[in-house]
Amino acid sequence: MSLLEIKNLHACVGDKEILKGIDLTIKAGEVHAIMGPNGSGKSTLSNVLAGHPNYTVTQGTILFKGKNLLDLSPDKRANEGVFLAFQHPIELTGVGTALFLKTALNAKRHYLNEPPLDAVQFMKRLKTRAQALGITDEMLKRPVNVGFSGGEKKRMETFQMAFLEPDFCILDEMDSGLDIDALRIVSDGINVLREPHRSFLMITHFHRLLNYVTPDYIHIMVNGRIVKSGDKTLALHLEENGYEEFK
Ligand SMILES: Nc1ncnc2c1ncn2[C@@H]1O[C@H](COP(=O)(O)OP(=O)(O)OP(=O)(O)O)[C@@H](O)[C@H]1O
Ligand SMILES: [Mg+2]
Repeated sequence: MSLLEIKNLHACVGDKEILKGIDLTIKAGEVHAIMGPNGSGKSTLSNVLAGHPNYTVTQGTILFKGKNLLDLSPDKRANEGVFLAFQHPIELTGVGTALFLKTALNAKRHYLNEPPLDAVQFMKRLKTRAQALGITDEMLKRPVNVGFSGGEKKRMETFQMAFLEPDFCILDEMDSGLDIDALRIVSDGINVLREPHRSFLMITHFHRLLNYVTPDYIHIMVNGRIVKSGDKTLALHLEENGYEEFK
């Protein structure tokens, strides 16, 4: 069954059209990668999926688990299982990381008519997921992302994803700024989450992430459109030839 079905999606910022007719279907359990030149609309697509208010959808449809995603507010989309790991994670001054995660998880559980996690269950889940992603106790005590290095912020995004266990994970340049060891840690964090009911949309500029997390499909986005789709060999082709032939 399709988890996500995007048809003829057009979206604008102000009066500038950025997405110019995106068609993309992602089935449960699949990993899709999007590659494309700077400014082609990859982050715009992520933001539109998450419900960022700066973007206006002017045409097209997005179905998520058969529901009209565009009808849902960003928080409802998150509660339904959409997760966006930002290309540029923001710092939340004054918001403690543990409290932030507890609030987000319990809001989702409330939405799903599940009881909140008690303190013991919460701490256990927090510690095990944090340990796997190299997030220290000291980092958990700090406000979300405040003063974190670029690579630490990316690890924190992956940790949030692992903690919240979303059904659809959008990873916008998760690999940028990561050192070689951190790339492996984050890739392992993604791979353990690969399950038949969970899908991923990974945006990346680099072939090396795709060596660790093997995608089922790669799509090339140029100027607001997907101009080619293929298997993982497409990334190698791009590495050698660049985007010139697709422009
Ligand atoms: N708020 C905005 N106002 C004006 N233009 C915008 C706005 N947001 C995005 N754009 C433009 O939309 C285009 C697509 O941007 P987007 O961030 O989606 O690109 P991208 O494919 O993610 O690029 P990169 O690989 O550099 O991250 C760019 O030309 C960008 O300048
Ligand atoms: Mg981007």
